[in-house]
Amino acid sequence: MTSIETYHTSAIAKLKNASLFIQDAFIDGHWVSNGDKFDVYEEPSTATVLGQVVSCSLEDFRKAIKSASLAQPRFFERTTAAGRGALLRKWHDLIIANKEDLAIILCLENGKTVSEALGEVTYAASFISWFAEEATRSYGVTIPSSSPNTSLMTIHEPVGVCGIITPWNFPAAMITRKIAPALAAGCSVVIKPPSETPFSCLALAKLAVEAGLPPATIQVCPTKDRQAATELAINPLVKKISFTGSTAVGKMLAKLSAETLKKVSLELGGNAPFIVFNDADIDLAVEGAMFCKFRCSGQTCVCANRFYVQSGVVKTFTQKLVLKVNALHMGAGLDTATTQGPLVNKAAVDKVQAHIADATSKGAKVEAGGSGHGSCGYFHQPTVLSGVSQDMQVAKEETFGPLAAIIVFEEEQDAIRLANDTEFGLAGYFYSKDVSRVMRVAQRMQVGMVGVNTGKISAAEAPFGGIKESGYGKEGSLYGLREYQTTKSITIGNLDTSA
Ligand code: SIN
Repeated sequence: MTSIETYHTSAIAKLKNASLFIQDAFIDGHWVSNGDKFDVYEEPSTATVLGQVVSCSLEDFRKAIKSASLAQPRFFERTTAAGRGALLRKWHDLIIANKEDLAIILCLENGKTVSEALGEVTYAASFISWFAEEATRSYGVTIPSSSPNTSLMTIHEPVGVCGIITPWNFPAAMITRKIAPALAAGCSVVIKPPSETPFSCLALAKLAVEAGLPPATIQVCPTKDRQAATELAINPLVKKISFTGSTAVGKMLAKLSAETLKKVSLELGGNAPFIVFNDADIDLAVEGAMFCKFRCSGQTCVCANRFYVQSGVVKTFTQKLVLKVNALHMGAGLDTATTQGPLVNKAAVDKVQAHIADATSKGAKVEAGGSGHGSCGYFHQPTVLSGVSQDMQVAKEETFGPLAAIIVFEEEQDAIRLANDTEFGLAGYFYSKDVSRVMRVAQRMQVGMVGVNTGKISAAEAPFGGIKESGYGKEGSLYGLREYQTTKSITIGNLDTSA
C-alpha cells in the first residue's frame, strides 16, 4: 500500500485555481468565514486535517432559507426557461474548464481515486448540461374540455425553496443531480453538504455564481449538526426536500416533512442483486461485476451486494473474478497506481469485517482478500466470498464496502425469488444471452433500475431511483425536472366562440 502521508494538503497548494478551495459558508449571496468551524479530514479517514470549514448554526439555516425564499420568485420571474438553460450551460462549461482542480479537491476529501474523481466531475457536469436542455422542454399540455366554450391547459411552475441533503460518497454528482433540475425549474436551493466532504459543493457553488446564477438562489450551509436536516424538513418556507442517504434518515425526513406537506424525493439504501445465468457471457459479467461492486471501493448505493451465480458457471465466474480482484491496488487516491481508495471511517471497515466473520462462521469461504487495514486511513482489502447463503448477514444487509458475496442457484425462479427477498429495491443486474429471459427477468426484478449485461446504469438521461424501502422519486432523465415543479391546470371558461 502506498503511504498516504506522501500527499496531504500540499496538493491543495498546487491547484491551478486555488480560489476553488473554499472553507466558508455561502449564505444570502455572501461568503461567510467567521464563526465556529469544524475539521474536515483528508481521504477522509486519516488524522490529517484537509481544512476547517465554517459550521452553520440553525439560525444560519433559517437565514439562508429566508434569503432563498425571497430570491426564488425574482429568479423565476426574471428568467425564461432558455435563459436558465444558458446559465446552466455556462456553469457546466466552467466546471469542465476546472475539472482537474475539482477532481483533486474531490479525491482529497473523499479518498476515491483521482481517475474516479475526474469521472465523477464529468458525471456531475452532465446533469447540468442535461437539465440546461430539459429546462426548455418543460411542456404543459392542452386538454379537450368536457364543458362547452372552455379551454383547459397545464403549466409547470417551480415548487419554491428546495432543501438539499447529500452524502459523502459522491460529493459533486449528488449535488448537481439535485440542484441542476431545481435551478432549471426556477427554484432556489439551500444545501446541507456532507460534513465529511463539503469542499466540492462549495467549489461548485462558486462556479455557479461565476456563471451568473443569482447568488441567493444557491445557499450552502456546512454543518455537523443533525438538527439542520430537521430544520430543512420542518421550515414552512422550504417546499421540497431531496435527500440521498440511509433509509432510516429518509423515513425520518419524510415524517417531518409531512407536517408542512412538502414534496419529497428519497434516494435511499440498496442491496442490489447481480445474477449470472449459465447462458451469460462470463467475461462480460466479470467486467460488470468489477465495475459495479468495486467502484468507489464498494461505497455506492447501486453497488452489487449479492452475486447469484448459476451452478453451471459458478466455478469459472469465481475464478475469473478472483483474478481481477487480486489485481486491484489499495492506496491514496492521488497515487495513479491506486484502484481502491479507503473507506469512509472505521465503522465502515468494521461492517465489512462483521459480514465476513458472520459468513465464514456459517460456512462461507474467503476466495480473495478478507482483511482490513485500519492504521492509516481505513482500508479494506477487496474481498470475494464463495459458499454464501441467503441467511447470512451479507445477503440481508447492504455491506457498503468492497465485499462480493457469491451464492449458487439452480433455477431461474430461485434466482428471482432470492433477488427479491429484501426490503430494498434500488438496482438489480443480470447477465443472459436469452432474449426471452432478458425481458422476463427484467420485468420480475423488484427494483427501480435494472442493468442487463452491463454494470453501468447511471447516466444523466437515465431515470435514477428506487422502489420499496429504497425510496421514491426519480433523479436525472426527463422525469427529474418534475420533482422540482408543481403542475397547475388553467381552465378558461365562457369563451366567446360566436364571432
Ligand atoms: C449513489 O451511490 O447514491 C449514486 C450512485 C450513482 O449515481 O451511480
